Amino acid sequence: MSHSIDNHTIYKTTTTLLLTALAASELFGQPPATLQADLNRTKAPVSPTLYGLMTEEINYSYDGGLYAELIRNRTFRADWSGILNWFLIENGTSSAKVSIDFQEGPSKALSSSARLEVVKADAQSPAGLLNEGYWGFAVRPNTRYTGSLFAKTAAPGALPVKVALVADQSGAVLASADVPVSGAAWKEYKFEMQSGSVAASSANHLEITVDRAATLWLQLVSLFPPTYHARPNGNRIDLMEKLAAMHPSFLRFPGGNYLEGGNIATRFDWKKMIGPLVDRPTHPSTWSYHSSDGMGLLEFLLWCEDLHMDPVLAVYAGYSLGGQVVKPGPDLDPFVKDALDEIEYVTGQASTKGGALRARDGHPAPFKLHYVEVGNEDNFDKSKSYDGRYAQFFQAIKAQYPDLQVIATMPVTGVRPDVVDDHYYKREQGMFDLVRQYDNTDRKGPKIFVGEWATREGTPTPNMGAALGDAAFMTGLERNSDVVVMASYAPLLVNVNPGGMQWSTDLIGYDALDSYGSPAYYAQVMFSSCLGDHTVESGLSGGGDKVFYSVTASANSKVCLKLVNAASTDQPIAITLSGLGGGTHPALLSSLKANTNWATNTITHPDQIVPVRSNVAVQGERLEHVLPARSIQVLEIDR
Ligand code: AHR
Repeated sequence: MSHSIDNHTIYKTTTTLLLTALAASELFGQPPATLQADLNRTKAPVSPTLYGLMTEEINYSYDGGLYAELIRNRTFRADWSGILNWFLIENGTSSAKVSIDFQEGPSKALSSSARLEVVKADAQSPAGLLNEGYWGFAVRPNTRYTGSLFAKTAAPGALPVKVALVADQSGAVLASADVPVSGAAWKEYKFEMQSGSVAASSANHLEITVDRAATLWLQLVSLFPPTYHARPNGNRIDLMEKLAAMHPSFLRFPGGNYLEGGNIATRFDWKKMIGPLVDRPTHPSTWSYHSSDGMGLLEFLLWCEDLHMDPVLAVYAGYSLGGQVVKPGPDLDPFVKDALDEIEYVTGQASTKGGALRARDGHPAPFKLHYVEVGNEDNFDKSKSYDGRYAQFFQAIKAQYPDLQVIATMPVTGVRPDVVDDHYYKREQGMFDLVRQYDNTDRKGPKIFVGEWATREGTPTPNMGAALGDAAFMTGLERNSDVVVMASYAPLLVNVNPGGMQWSTDLIGYDALDSYGSPAYYAQVMFSSCLGDHTVESGLSGGGDKVFYSVTASANSKVCLKLVNAASTDQPIAITLSGLGGGTHPALLSSLKANTNWATNTITHPDQIVPVRSNVAVQGERLEHVLPARSIQVLEIDR
């Protein structure tokens, strides 16, 4: 036996498998494989920024997702059916009506408001408005909620306005605050409310009521639970913790198609998404719903700061998803200037115009920025204008920021991009076929950013078959990480409620209350948790065609061995790690496996497929091992 494992269950299993491994072929259904790696022979460097995140407003990723705002349609948008997500409350004998007042709003950006006219109400029969939230409101025990609203009233004196979180079924008030609104001028009111020892649930709604006849105008009604790092206007704690566990080194934002917009007017217009929320007009997103724009440019940067990620800033490049194109040349100049202003907002000292704006928004210190991406998927531009558009952005950015790496979204002629962004969305077999995609890439050409990729099997979140395709693909990324400098799965997030998803196969699922990682999420966690700084000379022979591996190492610290068996039978494998040396090497084995490719995690069964970790000891340089059927394993060995 070459190694032992101290977890009891795994120890017994592994011992049995090891004893039989060498006479294994008919027993395990696969001929034994041999993996040889020479730790003394470095092959290529591994990019320290290989694993990161890609994000956009899709699948209710921010609104109804990561962005912790609880109120849906806090700015009272309406359509032919009335004010979306808000409902009139007329309790008992009260009577009221609600309409949009297009003449009254607290700011230029929010120039309308909800006008609530209560004709009759009293303490027993209050009237007001109800918000349904993003498929409910998560209320947890002993939790503080922080709210604000803009209001004015025609009532004389102070009008007592009650804000409450109410259980849908029982009508019980779970938390509430009294907000005295006074005067005919718009003012912002802040309030807090605290839940008691209630059961955690999302089957709740919000009520805003008054107990007398009065007219009340409301705009920008907001309510936040506690957020990650207690940031005001911040992010959901459970989702941030799941992202942190992926050890991401960068965040590519703000999209994706969300950057492009359906047309030019609905692009990610960063200048309209900074500063106080009341100055953000909101906009229709590419993915069929409206964006509150609470997640604006600074919020993305703070997200990077919180998770120690480098921003990879994508700038709008004159092509929108619906086909609108801004011609290269003078027409494009204003958009290039917008991008330069945006870069200055991110990186400029507070003495610059952009830096001063950022300081006004509460962050005087500049952010570090190494990468700017020009556009998104410009291969879909039928006018074929990207060569010209990219060159115009490239030259302007390099003239002012020579150290920035400028990413192109497709191969271009004219200027030579620093990095090219490749996207892959495939079925499981398609990802296996891509495992060697970068083995022969020209090392003198641009670097590669795999800015979006996923094995698309399973919905809303990937199943084990997808995780196996992903893991196989990642072995190829690691082997070629001298040229593939960054990679990010997409889409990252999905709200699993009916209507929440616009794109199936998304890494992390959630509803208002809970969240879970898919098997593919755990594959990412495992791969990014152990990554050496170089690859070594290695080779695999024998075994089936669904066995994949990667060996990375860091001198004098660790060896990271990744093994993937996507076959439905166990795979015996004899591993030699030359140069590891004799003696005992403590190691950590993480193992993810399932009985079928369809096995998966769900919002109600979040932990069916999770990594099992165990401490093991590798004796000497040889391991006789059996890779279970449909498994992903990462072995981190101390050197
Ligand atoms: O990830 C979903 C979409 O796929 C992205 O918005 C787009 O860039 C790609 O086509």
